[in-house]
Amino acid sequence: MATASPPKRIVVLTGAGISAESGLKTFRDNNGLWENHRVEDVATPEAFAANPGLVQRFYNARRSQLVEEAQPNQAHIDLAEFEKDYSGEFLLITQNVDDLHERAGSKNLLHMHGELLKVRCAKTDTIYDRTTPVYYEELCDCCGLPGKLRPHIVWFGEIPLYMDKIYQALERCDLFVSIGTSGNVYPAAGFQQIAQEYGAHTVELNLEASKGASRFDECIQGPATEIVGKFFKHLLATQS
Ligand code: OAD
Repeated sequence: MATASPPKRIVVLTGAGISAESGLKTFRDNNGLWENHRVEDVATPEAFAANPGLVQRFYNARRSQLVEEAQPNQAHIDLAEFEKDYSGEFLLITQNVDDLHERAGSKNLLHMHGELLKVRCAKTDTIYDRTTPVYYEELCDCCGLPGKLRPHIVWFGEIPLYMDKIYQALERCDLFVSIGTSGNVYPAAGFQQIAQEYGAHTVELNLEASKGASRFDECIQGPATEIVGKFFKHLLATQS
């Protein structure tokens, strides 16, 4: 780690790569298909309007895989342990819609692309916890109408969540760490640049060099379960 003094405020951004070793497929490592679907067929408001049954079935399958099969891996656990032991400010921003960070024990966490285990009424914006399948014609509890419940997921063309809080944290942090993200999707792909412009040291931890790797001050390559723990344990050691 090349920071001159121990950081007081850390922002970590995670992407699909951190959950890959929990058995959840990444978006861009499978010939452009996500669980055999083109993104535009399942992850846009237009897709939901045109074929709500298909979209609900797609997310029902992702939800049941998450609930029944996936477990946090060592990288999720190492991040949560670091947050517990670290004395400075720590914010974890994830692009992932799984709940593996929470299950590992992460506390100060923002799901900027929504959450798979939540659904939302498209009419009233009421959010409900949900671990079971959603049928697209089922009646919504708040408005009583059929077809209004949608996955609480930020689809392409929609605005990510918590952006004010995220930009504030990026402007204040002195260390920004990006883990397991390809840097293809904005605004998250631009976070490194903002943090750097405001003076943060920026680090990428990824299986391979991402699209924007050359902009980072430091890049470490390898599987998340190996490199995340090593990096954050070393950082903690510099704190004491
Ligand atoms: P991607 O699938 O684009 O990128 C995953 C990254 O993780 C790649 O750079 C891989 O090299 C890396 N990776 C794979 N396995 C890894 C491992 N074991 N350890 C470390 N790194 C590994 O996923 P994201 O960048 O998260 O948005 O994609 C960003 C957004 O695009 C997603 O949140 C989603 C998608 O469309 C929405 O759904 C709105």
